[in-house]
Amino acid sequence: MNAQELIDTARTLVAGDKGLLAMDESNSTCNKRFAKLGIPQTEEARRAYRELIVTTPGLGECISGAILYDETIRQQKKDGTPFVKAIIEAGIIPGIKVDTGAKDMAGHPREKITEGLDGLRDRLKEYLEIGARFAKWRAVIAAGDGLPSRGCIEANAQALARYAALCQESGLVPVVEPEVLMDGDHTLERCREVTEEVLRRVFDQLYTQRVTLEAMILKPNMVLPGLTCAKQETVDEVADATVRCLLRVVPAAVPGIAFLSGGQSGELASARLNAMHVRSKSPNSRLPWALAFSFARAIQQPALEIWRGEESHILAAQQALYHRASCNRAARRGEYNAAMERI
Ligand code: G3H
Repeated sequence: MNAQELIDTARTLVAGDKGLLAMDESNSTCNKRFAKLGIPQTEEARRAYRELIVTTPGLGECISGAILYDETIRQQKKDGTPFVKAIIEAGIIPGIKVDTGAKDMAGHPREKITEGLDGLRDRLKEYLEIGARFAKWRAVIAAGDGLPSRGCIEANAQALARYAALCQESGLVPVVEPEVLMDGDHTLERCREVTEEVLRRVFDQLYTQRVTLEAMILKPNMVLPGLTCAKQETVDEVADATVRCLLRVVPAAVPGIAFLSGGQSGELASARLNAMHVRSKSPNSRLPWALAFSFARAIQQPALEIWRGEESHILAAQQALYHRASCNRAARRGEYNAAMERI
């Protein structure tokens, strides 16, 4: 694949009012979410749940790309149709999570380093053959309580950049995800400070590793107070802090930013994305990149809670999934409002 094709794919992923659906939970994360709802933690249950997602009517109206997990990209619908084929037929670009998880970082208590670079070139080749056109790698950074360390930021930034370079070499658009976690009681200001520092290091490394910025997507956290912080800023304050931070550090050459939800409720994630778009409509506040979404929990959670492994709940679960996806589509136009949640 040539550079222009990569650029076109990156632009398509963030075009218009659509966004990405992250359905790439590892088996262990997926099992944990199933266990909480009493759903069997089996390969068949995970397959059935992913079939529910990819066959949701109208999903392609709101979703441009779906991020799959290694198990899922090899699975099929009950009628034998590969998920990748079903996704493409729904007008959605298939993507794949390629890191192998965040592991305890040596010498850095309470911090993680994401692994998966060994053998990555060969895995990317296989995923491209299966049909993936983009890939995702997530680094996690804890904020607060003396964290993060410089060593953790630098090691994760370098891994993200090496992954991104390998993706582009292999013909896949890298989705670069450095996530500053919401866990803890740190303030919004602390999250802003850490997010800005992390993104600076990530873009330094992307430059050093010769990544083409026009052919990648950034998947960051929003700038938020920690979950247990006493002061929880308003939707507008979060939107302003997030956009201000991104404007300082994300080069205009990057075609799009697609936020992770990180544990926010579906409604809050939509409201905050919406507020960013309302602001960007004024002529003095035009943004250089598209601002999209790449949510997992903030799109899937209500659907999963309705489904609970029951075949008779599939339709209602699909409606809930479509509803959250369309709320985020409206948010991208700056047209989301709380009344949409009462339908
Ligand atoms: O890696 C995490 C997912 O891609 C995003 O998940 O929206 O639930 O934070 P989330």
